[in-house]
Amino acid sequence: MTDRGWEAVDAYIAGQLLGPDPVLDAALKGNAEGGLPAIDVSAAQGKMLHLLARISGARHILEVGTLGGFSTIWLARALPEGGRLVTLEISPTHAEVARANIAHAGLAEKVEVRVGPALESLKTMGDEAPFDLVFIDADKENNANYVQAAIGLSRPGALILVDNVVRGGGVIDAASTEPRIVGTRKLFEMLQAEERLEATAIQTVGAKGWDGFVMAVVKG
Ligand code: SAH
Ligand code: DHB
Ligand code: MG
Repeated sequence: MTDRGWEAVDAYIAGQLLGPDPVLDAALKGNAEGGLPAIDVSAAQGKMLHLLARISGARHILEVGTLGGFSTIWLARALPEGGRLVTLEISPTHAEVARANIAHAGLAEKVEVRVGPALESLKTMGDEAPFDLVFIDADKENNANYVQAAIGLSRPGALILVDNVVRGGGVIDAASTEPRIVGTRKLFEMLQAEERLEATAIQTVGAKGWDGFVMAVVKG
């Protein structure tokens, strides 16, 4: 099946199972008007993140890579009363669009968008730990570093998810010099050796092409 078929099936899934969502439609419109690239997770993937957050009973969520807050909104919608989400974003422009989208979603009180290079922000977050769920979706070059930081900020049993770990199959190109592929392969090597995590990766196809997520649990 072709990419076109994947897109059509994603549209079918969204139509059957996700229903109308004016808040998320408005967020995507806000992103486009703000000139942000359309590299958010798909709607079906966003709902998967949402369900995983609910299944894990997450009260405290960390996101690395906000863009316009599309994935943030899906995750924050899973929080119970009193739950909190911190999302890290390097671009002040993206953060501004995200804050508006998040406010429009009625989630401003639960969500903080923090601007700066995520590696720097993560270093200062010890007193905000532990997190129950971490979603990593920023510069792929740093994915191994982000997972290491996430382990340090997570409770035993926490869920760590990483987006874009398949890259149209590019991940298996050992000869690649593309920094994002190199970074992704470094992530897999780190995960293989990391005894504090139990991990897998799941390939996905859909509106965002052929890609995948790493899913890992912090051992107790
Ligand atoms: N999670 C979003 C998509 C994020 S796109 C969603 O699915 O809706 C990746 C984002 O990571 C971009 O907004 C980019 O500006 C940001 N980013 C890139 N490098 C970063 C860094 N070093 N620190 C923090 N954010 C970074
Ligand atoms: C890119 C980043 C993402 O997080 C994504 O889901 C797709 C593409 C990118 O940087 O091109
Ligand atoms: Mg992504």
